[in-house]
Amino acid sequence: MFTFNKTIIHSIHSHITSHPLISLFILTLFLIEITLFCSHSPPPQPLFPPTDNLCTDGTIYVYDLPPMFNSDLLGTCDDLDPWHWQCGVATNHGYGTTATELAGIVPESLASAWHRTNQFSSEVIFHNRVLKHKCRTMEPESATAYYIPFYAGLAVGKYLFSDSSNEERDFHAVELIKWVQDQPYWRRSNGSDHVLVLGRITWDFRRLTDPEKLWGSTFLNMPEMQNVTRLTIERAPYDYHDIGVPYPTGFHPTSVTDIRTWQSFVRTYNRTSLFTFVGAAREDIGDDIRGLLLRTCRNESGSGSGSGACRVVDCALTPCANGSKEIIEALLGSEFCLQPRGDSFTRRSVFDCMIAGSVPVLFWNRTMYDQYEWYMPEEPESYSVFIDHGDVSAGKRSIKAVLESYSVEKVRRMREKVIEIIPKIVYSNSNSSSSSNDGMKDAFEIAVEGVLKRFGAEREQLRLESVGKGFLESP
Ligand SMILES: *[C@@H]1O[C@H](CO)[C@@H](O)[C@H](O)[C@H]1NC(C)=O
Ligand SMILES: *[C@@H]1O[C@H](CO)[C@@H](O)[C@H](O)[C@H]1NC(C)=O
Ligand SMILES: *[C@@H]1O[C@H](CO)[C@@H](O)[C@H](O)[C@H]1NC(C)=O
Ligand SMILES: *[C@@H]1O[C@H](CO)[C@@H](O)[C@H](O)[C@H]1NC(C)=O
Ligand SMILES: *[C@@H]1O[C@H](CO)[C@@H](O)[C@H](O)[C@H]1NC(C)=O
Ligand SMILES: *[C@@H]1O[C@H](CO)[C@@H](O)[C@H](O)[C@H]1NC(C)=O
Ligand SMILES: *[C@@H]1O[C@H](CO)[C@@H](O)[C@H](O)[C@H]1NC(C)=O
Repeated sequence: MFTFNKTIIHSIHSHITSHPLISLFILTLFLIEITLFCSHSPPPQPLFPPTDNLCTDGTIYVYDLPPMFNSDLLGTCDDLDPWHWQCGVATNHGYGTTATELAGIVPESLASAWHRTNQFSSEVIFHNRVLKHKCRTMEPESATAYYIPFYAGLAVGKYLFSDSSNEERDFHAVELIKWVQDQPYWRRSNGSDHVLVLGRITWDFRRLTDPEKLWGSTFLNMPEMQNVTRLTIERAPYDYHDIGVPYPTGFHPTSVTDIRTWQSFVRTYNRTSLFTFVGAAREDIGDDIRGLLLRTCRNESGSGSGSGACRVVDCALTPCANGSKEIIEALLGSEFCLQPRGDSFTRRSVFDCMIAGSVPVLFWNRTMYDQYEWYMPEEPESYSVFIDHGDVSAGKRSIKAVLESYSVEKVRRMREKVIEIIPKIVYSNSNSSSSSNDGMKDAFEIAVEGVLKRFGAEREQLRLESVGKGFLESP
């Protein structure tokens, strides 16, 4: 039955303008509801209760999976080792160890907020955070969303760089689907109100059939997965159920004060270079734009470190996977950072860059604009520069000339926008729920809220369709 709340007001409002018969019908129900409401005389409730902490978007239920799907997959290597991609994922709830090497670079009060975080740890971070979420429910019957804490990235990661059979690569995914299909709440919806987090890019779960391109698992190709929502660091732009979430960076503020301190630190930092490039050239990729950018940047880098227009951090020489000191110094010291695609379209470096208050320069739309819809402002030019990769490869546009054409005032405004985005793209490390956060929401909170709102809207849509159908079919 309907409840006397915002939902019905909203549905009346949105249907007054669509189908007159349906609105009349709903209005009738509404009047009946008011009559019932008055005759039952329940304690009066405020029509629009204050929204803080009330989970107005619904609740989330977290499955208690057998450990083979999560904790058993956590490796044992507890620091970041660039040669083993999963190292550090398990450490400190996914945040990694404290980055003591940044002492003297970051403000003293934030020394413990900086970690050696593995870029593929979001499935672990989300799991630990959701267990403490204020809208987590222990009553599955009434939940809006069902969270499956499967570490899909770690499950496939065991087999990524070895000669494994397809059965091995798909083993955990197949078992997970068997397990979840036995759950009553899955059977009720075929998974369409279920959500999971993929710590790696979506392409690692969409194995192609071409024998030359056997990579990853077929988890997302499985028919049972088609209506399940996945939060992932790189989404397939055509897939409604893939939602892009930020790569984890090393900064994990524990309070609003931490964020404010960091924002003013990067706002006033003395940036002595125009731009920076952090990355390695790839000789095995033909027409590699990274090699070109590396050469361009070297060309502009001047003699002493930090004195020229561009700062290079060559990841073939510096182990970028764990040596974040050089990267952070380069990003803090530059107005802009170059972000070409890498092995895939997205890169963690885009987020490192923005957190350092540097303005990202993008060469492919899919690196950012088509990815992180819930996080980024609508106007890309307000916080970034776009230079088409084709123009760069063809030598049609000089990066330096493009960047120099921006006025000091325009760069300041773009940086201000980037600084405004920082709180939304960090994964904060706070034990308290969001009530004390001045309404500031981090990447995790935005994702949970987005999923609840989306599932709520889909459910409402289905309900209205069936109400409408029932009415039109009744004699
Ligand atoms: C970075 O990686 C190198 C090589 O594996 C290792 O020797 C070093 O201890 C690591 N440093 C940090 C800060 O994790
Ligand atoms: C779930 O999928 C099965 C097989 O495709 C279908 O028969 C069934 O009607 C679906 N149930 C719901 C609730 O969508
Ligand atoms: C996914 O949802 C659509 C629309 O609700 C439905 O038609 C389809 O059968 C569902 N697929 C599966 C595998 O449940
Ligand atoms: C910024 O750094 C440059 C080069 O080191 C220096 O000349 C300049 O005085 C600094 N500006 C400020 C405001 O500290
Ligand atoms: C390096 O700089 C020289 C002189 O400014 C220029 O002629 C050359 O094209 C530059 N090379 C690259 C790769 O940018
Ligand atoms: C890519 O993004 C830029 C900046 O928003 C836009 O001007 C351009 O039209 C986009 N290109 C494509 C192919 O969507
Ligand atoms: C959060 O709680 C854990 C244990 O419950 C504790 O080890 C950790 O230090 C706490 N973090 C903060 C930022 O208070």
